Amino acid sequence: MTLVTPGLAPPSAVASACVLDVDDLPALPGRELTSTELRAWVREVAARPELWERYVRHDGADERGSRHFVSLYRDADIDVWLLCWNLEDDTGWHDHDTSSGAVAVTRGAVTESRPRLGGTPVVQTVRAGRTLAFGPDHIHRMGGAVDGSVSIHAYSPPLWRMGQYSISDSGVMRRWSVSYADELRPLDG
Ligand SMILES: [Fe+2]
Repeated sequence: MTLVTPGLAPPSAVASACVLDVDDLPALPGRELTSTELRAWVREVAARPELWERYVRHDGADERGSRHFVSLYRDADIDVWLLCWNLEDDTGWHDHDTSSGAVAVTRGAVTESRPRLGGTPVVQTVRAGRTLAFGPDHIHRMGGAVDGSVSIHAYSPPLWRMGQYSISDSGVMRRWSVSYADELRPLDG
């Protein structure tokens, strides 16, 4: 099996490179899942480290300065990722276009921030054993709160396009449409 760091790889290459089969995973309904269903499902995946633990890596950025993430599974209804976080890792502001999502933190802790116009962002720390879930209306950024953190992410329908945002010092927000295979990075420093 191959560790996958998608970077700028074309989506088709990433889609074919997921490391688990549907038979490895908790049962799926054969349709798109709601955010509530995703939360329960990703919690089951998190509770089975034999599925994903071998892909965890925190030994620093590769030559592109990329975070380490692995496509665990993808089909017509869901895609599932393993993300590894150190303190310097930061997705920048983004949305998930039409997808709902759920995140289970399995090691360490991550921060989730939501932008607030005219105010400071709403920030929460999500520690190991906790989950968060959201719909397609959700805008956030995530980062490592502890070196060596790990989280499992599931999205339905599968991510295809995402919105990446910058917010200027004067509060002006701009959105760029990016491929799900592009690594999310801060656009506003
Ligand atoms: Fe996200």
